[in-house]
Amino acid sequence: MKIFTIIGARPQFVKCAPVSAALRKEHPEFLVHTGQHYDENMSHIFFDEMGIPKPNVNLNVGSGTHATQTAAMMTGLEPLMLEQKPDAVMIYGDTNSTVAGALVAAKLHIPVIHIEAGLRSFNLKMPEEINRIVADRLSKILCCPTETAIENLAKEGITNGVINTGDVMYDAVLMFKPLSEKSKFPEILGTKSKEYNLITIHRASNTDNTDNLLNILNGANDSSRHSIFPIHPRTKNIMKNNGISIDSFKNIKFIEPLGYLDFMALAANAKTITTDSGGLQKEAYWHGVPCITVRNETEWVETVESGWNCLIGPDREKITNALMNFSPSGERPEYYGNGNASGKIVEAINLD
Ligand code: UD1
Repeated sequence: MKIFTIIGARPQFVKCAPVSAALRKEHPEFLVHTGQHYDENMSHIFFDEMGIPKPNVNLNVGSGTHATQTAAMMTGLEPLMLEQKPDAVMIYGDTNSTVAGALVAAKLHIPVIHIEAGLRSFNLKMPEEINRIVADRLSKILCCPTETAIENLAKEGITNGVINTGDVMYDAVLMFKPLSEKSKFPEILGTKSKEYNLITIHRASNTDNTDNLLNILNGANDSSRHSIFPIHPRTKNIMKNNGISIDSFKNIKFIEPLGYLDFMALAANAKTITTDSGGLQKEAYWHGVPCITVRNETEWVETVESGWNCLIGPDREKITNALMNFSPSGERPEYYGNGNASGKIVEAINLD
Protein backbone atom coordinates (compact mmCIF):
# COMPACT_ATOMS: atom_id res chain seq x y z
CA MET A 1 0.00 0.00 0.00
CA LYS A 2 1.27 3.43 -0.86
CA ILE A 3 0.95 5.69 2.19
CA PHE A 4 0.96 9.48 1.84
CA THR A 5 2.05 10.90 5.20
CA ILE A 6 1.58 14.52 6.26
CA ILE A 7 3.61 16.16 9.02
CA GLY A 8 4.38 19.81 9.70
CA ALA A 9 4.75 20.70 13.38
CA ARG A 10 7.36 19.71 15.94
CA PRO A 11 5.39 17.02 17.82
CA GLN A 12 4.53 15.36 14.52
CA PHE A 13 8.20 14.89 13.68
CA VAL A 14 8.64 13.05 16.99
CA LYS A 15 5.59 10.85 16.38
CA CYS A 16 6.53 10.07 12.79
CA ALA A 17 10.09 8.92 13.60
CA PRO A 18 9.17 5.46 14.99
CA VAL A 19 6.13 5.02 12.72
CA SER A 20 7.97 5.82 9.48
CA ALA A 21 10.76 3.43 10.44
CA ALA A 22 8.26 0.58 11.00
CA LEU A 23 6.05 1.46 8.04
CA ARG A 24 8.82 1.60 5.48
CA LYS A 25 9.81 -2.01 6.20
CA GLU A 26 6.55 -3.06 4.55
CA HIS A 27 5.05 -0.17 2.57
CA PRO A 28 6.25 2.67 0.36
CA GLU A 29 5.74 6.07 2.00
CA PHE A 30 5.45 9.49 0.34
CA LEU A 31 6.28 12.03 3.02
CA VAL A 32 5.02 15.62 2.88
CA HIS A 33 6.19 18.38 5.27
CA THR A 34 3.71 21.23 5.21
CA GLY A 35 6.30 23.71 6.49
CA GLN A 36 4.10 24.78 9.45
CA HIS A 37 7.27 24.71 11.56
CA TYR A 38 10.30 25.86 9.62
CA ASP A 39 13.03 27.12 11.98
CA GLU A 40 16.20 25.02 12.13
CA ASN A 41 15.60 24.07 15.77
CA MET A 42 11.82 23.56 15.34
CA SER A 43 12.16 21.30 12.30
CA HIS A 44 15.45 20.28 10.64
CA ILE A 45 17.22 19.16 13.80
CA PHE A 46 14.48 16.55 14.42
CA PHE A 47 14.97 15.02 10.98
CA ASP A 48 18.73 14.85 11.49
CA GLU A 49 18.71 13.48 15.04
CA MET A 50 15.81 11.06 14.73
CA GLY A 51 16.70 9.70 11.28
CA ILE A 52 13.35 10.77 9.83
CA PRO A 53 13.42 10.28 6.04
CA LYS A 54 13.80 13.45 4.00
CA PRO A 55 10.33 14.64 2.96
CA ASN A 56 9.53 14.09 -0.72
CA VAL A 57 7.97 17.55 -0.75
CA ASN A 58 8.03 20.56 1.58
CA LEU A 59 5.07 22.90 1.01
CA ASN A 60 6.79 25.71 2.93
CA VAL A 61 3.50 27.25 4.05
CA GLY A 62 5.04 28.98 7.09
CA SER A 63 3.08 31.02 9.62
CA GLY A 64 -0.29 32.70 9.21
CA THR A 65 -3.80 32.89 10.62
CA HIS A 66 -5.59 29.58 10.99
CA ALA A 67 -7.49 30.08 7.74
CA THR A 68 -4.56 31.21 5.63
CA GLN A 69 -2.26 28.53 7.00
CA THR A 70 -4.80 25.70 6.61
CA ALA A 71 -5.90 26.89 3.17
CA ALA A 72 -2.30 27.09 1.90
CA MET A 73 -1.73 23.54 3.10
CA MET A 74 -4.89 22.27 1.39
CA THR A 75 -4.00 24.01 -1.85
CA GLY A 76 -0.59 22.38 -1.79
CA LEU A 77 -1.82 18.93 -0.76
CA GLU A 78 -4.62 18.46 -3.29
CA PRO A 79 -2.53 18.32 -6.50
CA LEU A 80 0.03 16.13 -4.76
CA MET A 81 -2.58 13.57 -3.71
CA LEU A 82 -4.07 13.62 -7.21
CA GLU A 83 -0.63 13.04 -8.70
CA GLN A 84 0.55 10.39 -6.20
CA LYS A 85 -2.72 8.43 -6.02
CA PRO A 86 -1.96 6.97 -2.58
CA ASP A 87 -3.92 4.07 -1.10
CA ALA A 88 -4.20 5.94 2.20
CA VAL A 89 -3.27 9.26 3.81
CA MET A 90 -1.68 9.20 7.26
CA ILE A 91 -2.10 12.18 9.60
CA TYR A 92 -0.84 12.80 13.13
CA GLY A 93 -2.27 14.53 16.17
CA ASP A 94 -4.26 17.76 16.11
CA THR A 95 -2.50 20.57 14.30
CA ASN A 96 -3.55 22.59 11.29
CA SER A 97 -1.43 20.21 9.18
CA THR A 98 -3.62 17.34 10.47
CA VAL A 99 -6.96 18.90 9.62
CA ALA A 100 -5.77 20.14 6.22
CA GLY A 101 -4.71 16.60 5.29
CA ALA A 102 -7.96 15.06 6.52
CA LEU A 103 -10.15 17.48 4.56
CA VAL A 104 -8.28 17.10 1.28
CA ALA A 105 -8.02 13.30 1.46
CA ALA A 106 -11.65 12.77 2.48
CA LYS A 107 -12.92 14.88 -0.41
CA LEU A 108 -10.76 12.87 -2.83
CA HIS A 109 -12.19 9.66 -1.27
CA ILE A 110 -8.78 8.53 -0.06
CA PRO A 111 -8.96 6.59 3.25
CA VAL A 112 -7.48 8.52 6.18
CA ILE A 113 -5.41 6.91 8.94
CA HIS A 114 -5.33 9.11 12.06
CA ILE A 115 -2.52 8.52 14.55
CA GLU A 116 -3.40 9.76 18.05
CA ALA A 117 -7.14 9.59 17.41
CA GLY A 118 -9.85 10.08 20.03
CA LEU A 119 -8.17 12.67 22.26
CA ARG A 120 -10.56 15.26 23.67
CA SER A 121 -10.17 18.23 25.99
CA PHE A 122 -13.88 19.12 25.62
CA ASN A 123 -12.77 22.72 25.18
CA LEU A 124 -13.85 23.97 21.74
CA LYS A 125 -11.90 27.20 22.23
CA MET A 126 -8.73 25.22 21.53
CA PRO A 127 -7.93 25.12 17.81
CA GLU A 128 -6.48 21.65 18.40
CA GLU A 129 -9.86 20.34 19.68
CA ILE A 130 -11.57 21.47 16.48
CA ASN A 131 -8.83 19.87 14.41
CA ARG A 132 -9.16 16.55 16.30
CA ILE A 133 -12.93 16.33 15.99
CA VAL A 134 -12.84 16.96 12.23
CA ALA A 135 -9.90 14.61 11.66
CA ASP A 136 -11.52 11.76 13.62
CA ARG A 137 -14.88 12.16 11.92
CA LEU A 138 -13.21 11.84 8.51
CA SER A 139 -10.85 8.95 9.31
CA LYS A 140 -11.19 5.30 8.35
CA ILE A 141 -8.53 3.84 10.63
CA LEU A 142 -8.37 5.53 14.04
CA CYS A 143 -5.23 4.61 16.00
CA CYS A 144 -5.93 5.51 19.62
CA PRO A 145 -3.21 5.82 22.26
CA THR A 146 -5.47 4.95 25.23
CA GLU A 147 -8.75 3.30 26.27
CA THR A 148 -10.04 6.77 27.19
CA ALA A 149 -9.61 7.82 23.56
CA ILE A 150 -11.62 4.78 22.42
CA GLU A 151 -14.41 5.70 24.87
CA ASN A 152 -14.40 9.31 23.66
CA LEU A 153 -14.92 8.16 20.08
CA ALA A 154 -17.66 5.70 21.06
CA LYS A 155 -19.56 8.57 22.74
CA GLU A 156 -19.47 10.37 19.36
CA GLY A 157 -20.74 7.23 17.62
CA ILE A 158 -17.37 6.35 16.07
CA THR A 159 -16.64 2.65 16.57
CA ASN A 160 -15.61 1.32 13.16
CA GLY A 161 -11.90 1.16 12.40
CA VAL A 162 -11.02 2.15 15.99
CA ILE A 163 -8.05 0.39 17.62
CA ASN A 164 -5.94 0.90 20.73
CA THR A 165 -2.37 0.87 19.46
CA GLY A 166 -0.74 2.55 22.45
CA ASP A 167 1.12 5.82 22.19
CA VAL A 168 3.75 6.37 19.48
CA MET A 169 5.48 8.99 21.65
CA TYR A 170 6.30 6.20 24.10
CA ASP A 171 7.90 4.28 21.20
CA ALA A 172 10.03 7.37 20.54
CA VAL A 173 11.06 7.72 24.20
CA LEU A 174 12.25 4.10 24.33
CA MET A 175 13.84 4.18 20.87
CA PHE A 176 15.93 7.28 21.55
CA LYS A 177 16.69 6.76 25.26
CA PRO A 178 20.23 5.40 24.68
CA LEU A 179 21.08 8.43 22.52
CA SER A 180 19.45 11.03 24.79
CA GLU A 181 21.36 9.61 27.76
CA LYS A 182 24.55 10.73 26.01
CA SER A 183 23.38 14.35 25.94
CA LYS A 184 25.44 16.78 28.02
CA PHE A 185 22.30 18.59 29.21
CA PRO A 186 21.52 19.74 31.92
CA GLU A 187 25.26 20.13 32.83
CA ILE A 188 25.80 22.43 29.80
CA LEU A 189 23.46 24.91 31.50
CA GLY A 190 25.45 24.73 34.72
CA THR A 191 22.67 23.06 36.67
CA LYS A 192 22.46 19.70 38.42
CA SER A 193 20.13 16.81 37.76
CA LYS A 194 16.90 16.90 39.83
CA GLU A 195 17.46 20.50 40.95
CA TYR A 196 15.52 22.49 38.35
CA ASN A 197 12.07 23.01 36.94
CA LEU A 198 11.64 22.68 33.15
CA ILE A 199 9.11 25.06 31.59
CA THR A 200 7.42 24.98 28.18
CA ILE A 201 4.49 27.29 27.39
CA HIS A 202 3.10 27.88 23.92
CA ARG A 203 -0.71 27.33 23.91
CA ALA A 204 -2.73 30.22 22.51
CA SER A 205 -4.74 30.48 25.75
CA ASN A 206 -1.55 31.11 27.74
CA THR A 207 0.38 33.22 25.26
CA ASP A 208 -2.24 35.38 23.55
CA ASN A 209 -3.41 36.62 26.97
CA THR A 210 -0.38 38.38 28.46
CA ASP A 211 -1.89 38.40 31.98
CA ASN A 212 -1.89 34.61 31.87
CA LEU A 213 1.64 34.51 30.51
CA LEU A 214 2.89 36.89 33.22
CA ASN A 215 1.16 34.89 35.94
CA ILE A 216 2.87 31.71 34.78
CA LEU A 217 6.32 33.28 34.49
CA ASN A 218 5.99 35.10 37.82
CA GLY A 219 4.66 31.94 39.47
CA ALA A 220 7.79 30.04 38.44
CA ASN A 221 10.08 32.99 39.17
CA ASP A 222 8.74 33.33 42.74
CA SER A 223 9.62 29.74 43.59
CA SER A 224 12.94 28.92 45.23
CA ARG A 225 13.60 26.29 42.53
CA HIS A 226 15.22 27.72 39.43
CA SER A 227 13.66 27.08 36.04
CA ILE A 228 14.89 26.43 32.51
CA PHE A 229 12.64 27.54 29.65
CA PRO A 230 13.46 26.51 26.06
CA ILE A 231 11.19 29.14 24.61
CA HIS A 232 8.84 28.44 21.70
CA PRO A 233 9.00 31.10 18.93
CA ARG A 234 5.30 31.92 19.45
CA THR A 235 5.94 32.76 23.12
CA LYS A 236 9.17 34.62 22.34
CA ASN A 237 7.47 36.80 19.72
CA ILE A 238 4.60 37.62 22.06
CA MET A 239 6.95 38.60 24.89
CA LYS A 240 8.93 40.80 22.52
CA ASN A 241 5.86 42.46 21.02
CA ASN A 242 4.43 43.21 24.49
CA GLY A 243 7.64 44.55 26.01
CA ILE A 244 7.96 41.65 28.48
CA SER A 245 11.68 41.37 29.12
CA ILE A 246 13.32 38.07 30.05
CA ASP A 247 15.50 40.09 32.46
CA SER A 248 12.46 40.52 34.75
CA PHE A 249 12.64 36.82 35.60
CA LYS A 250 15.97 36.28 37.33
CA ASN A 251 15.08 32.77 38.43
CA ILE A 252 14.30 31.55 34.89
CA LYS A 253 16.96 30.74 32.30
CA PHE A 254 15.53 31.28 28.82
CA ILE A 255 17.18 29.21 26.10
CA GLU A 256 16.48 28.49 22.43
CA PRO A 257 14.27 25.46 21.59
CA LEU A 258 16.27 22.22 21.72
CA GLY A 259 16.36 19.13 19.54
CA TYR A 260 14.71 15.92 20.74
CA LEU A 261 17.74 14.27 22.36
CA ASP A 262 18.86 17.24 24.46
CA PHE A 263 15.29 18.09 25.37
CA MET A 264 14.63 14.52 26.50
CA ALA A 265 17.72 14.66 28.71
CA LEU A 266 16.53 17.94 30.20
CA ALA A 267 13.04 16.51 30.83
CA ALA A 268 14.24 13.21 32.32
CA ASN A 269 16.56 14.99 34.77
CA ALA A 270 14.15 17.72 35.86
CA LYS A 271 12.81 17.86 39.42
CA THR A 272 9.49 19.19 38.11
CA ILE A 273 8.02 20.09 34.73
CA THR A 274 5.67 23.03 34.19
CA THR A 275 3.96 22.94 30.82
CA ASP A 276 0.90 23.42 28.66
CA SER A 277 2.14 20.96 26.04
CA GLY A 278 0.24 17.72 25.53
CA GLY A 279 3.20 15.51 24.70
CA LEU A 280 5.34 16.73 27.58
CA GLN A 281 2.69 15.74 30.17
CA LYS A 282 3.15 12.14 29.05
CA GLU A 283 6.92 12.37 28.74
CA ALA A 284 7.03 13.64 32.34
CA TYR A 285 4.94 10.61 33.35
CA TRP A 286 7.21 8.15 31.55
CA HIS A 287 10.29 9.74 33.14
CA GLY A 288 8.66 9.79 36.58
CA VAL A 289 8.88 13.59 36.85
CA PRO A 290 6.00 15.44 38.60
CA CYS A 291 4.14 17.58 36.07
CA ILE A 292 2.32 20.86 36.72
CA THR A 293 0.06 21.45 33.74
CA VAL A 294 -0.91 25.07 33.27
CA ARG A 295 -4.33 24.42 31.82
CA ASN A 296 -7.79 23.82 33.21
CA GLU A 297 -8.26 20.51 31.43
CA THR A 298 -6.16 17.82 29.79
CA GLU A 299 -6.57 15.15 27.14
CA TRP A 300 -4.16 12.94 29.09
CA VAL A 301 -6.45 12.31 32.05
CA GLU A 302 -4.57 9.14 33.11
CA THR A 303 -1.54 11.20 34.14
CA VAL A 304 -3.79 13.20 36.51
CA GLU A 305 -5.72 10.16 37.80
CA SER A 306 -2.46 8.42 38.72
CA GLY A 307 -1.44 11.49 40.72
CA TRP A 308 1.62 12.43 38.60
CA ASN A 309 0.11 15.47 36.90
CA CYS A 310 -1.80 18.36 38.46
CA LEU A 311 -3.93 20.84 36.55
CA ILE A 312 -3.51 24.45 37.57
CA GLY A 313 -4.74 27.39 35.55
CA PRO A 314 -2.49 30.42 35.03
CA ASP A 315 -2.55 31.35 38.73
CA ARG A 316 0.70 32.84 40.06
CA GLU A 317 0.44 31.71 43.69
CA LYS A 318 -0.85 28.24 42.91
CA ILE A 319 2.02 27.65 40.48
CA THR A 320 4.63 28.71 43.04
CA ASN A 321 2.97 26.54 45.64
CA ALA A 322 2.77 23.49 43.36
CA LEU A 323 6.44 23.88 42.41
CA MET A 324 7.42 23.54 46.05
CA ASN A 325 4.84 21.04 47.27
CA PHE A 326 3.66 18.75 44.46
CA SER A 327 5.58 15.55 45.02
CA PRO A 328 3.77 12.41 43.83
CA SER A 329 5.24 8.98 44.43
CA GLY A 330 2.59 6.40 43.39
CA GLU A 331 2.60 3.73 40.71
CA ARG A 332 2.73 4.66 37.05
CA PRO A 333 0.65 2.02 35.25
CA GLU A 334 1.21 1.35 31.53
CA TYR A 335 -1.78 3.32 30.30
CA TYR A 336 -0.01 4.18 27.06
CA GLY A 337 0.91 0.71 25.80
CA ASN A 338 4.25 -1.05 25.84
CA GLY A 339 6.27 0.94 23.31
CA ASN A 340 5.18 -0.99 20.21
CA ALA A 341 2.46 1.34 18.95
CA SER A 342 4.22 1.70 15.59
CA GLY A 343 4.16 -2.07 15.03
CA LYS A 344 0.46 -2.19 15.87
CA ILE A 345 -0.28 0.65 13.45
CA VAL A 346 1.47 -1.21 10.62
CA GLU A 347 -0.49 -4.39 11.51
CA ALA A 348 -3.75 -2.43 11.34
CA ILE A 349 -2.80 -1.11 7.90
CA ASN A 350 -1.93 -4.64 6.71
CA LEU A 351 -5.30 -5.99 7.86
CA ASP A 352 -7.28 -3.28 6.11
C1 UD1 B 1 1.31 24.27 16.73
C2 UD1 B 1 0.03 23.46 16.94
C3 UD1 B 1 -0.02 22.94 18.36
C4 UD1 B 1 1.25 22.20 18.73
C5 UD1 B 1 2.45 23.10 18.47
C6 UD1 B 1 3.75 22.42 18.80
C7 UD1 B 1 -1.89 24.20 15.57
C8 UD1 B 1 -3.19 24.91 15.57
N1 UD1 B 1 -1.16 24.28 16.69
O1 UD1 B 1 1.21 25.44 17.56
O2 UD1 B 1 -1.13 22.06 18.49
O3 UD1 B 1 1.19 21.84 20.09
O4 UD1 B 1 2.44 23.49 17.10
O5 UD1 B 1 4.81 23.33 18.77
O6 UD1 B 1 -1.54 23.60 14.57
N2 UD1 B 1 7.05 30.05 14.54
C9 UD1 B 1 8.35 30.32 14.22
N3 UD1 B 1 9.11 29.33 13.70
C10 UD1 B 1 8.63 28.08 13.51
C11 UD1 B 1 7.30 27.81 13.83
C12 UD1 B 1 6.51 28.81 14.36
O7 UD1 B 1 8.83 31.43 14.37
O8 UD1 B 1 9.40 27.21 13.04
C13 UD1 B 1 6.22 31.11 15.14
C14 UD1 B 1 5.47 31.95 14.16
O9 UD1 B 1 5.53 33.26 14.57
C15 UD1 B 1 4.03 31.45 14.28
C16 UD1 B 1 3.95 31.01 15.70
O10 UD1 B 1 5.26 30.54 16.03
O11 UD1 B 1 3.11 32.45 13.99
C17 UD1 B 1 2.96 29.90 15.90
O12 UD1 B 1 3.26 28.78 15.06
P1 UD1 B 1 2.09 27.76 14.58
O13 UD1 B 1 2.70 26.63 13.89
O14 UD1 B 1 1.01 28.49 13.92
O15 UD1 B 1 1.44 27.23 15.92
P2 UD1 B 1 2.11 26.74 17.25
O16 UD1 B 1 1.82 27.75 18.27
O17 UD1 B 1 3.53 26.29 17.07
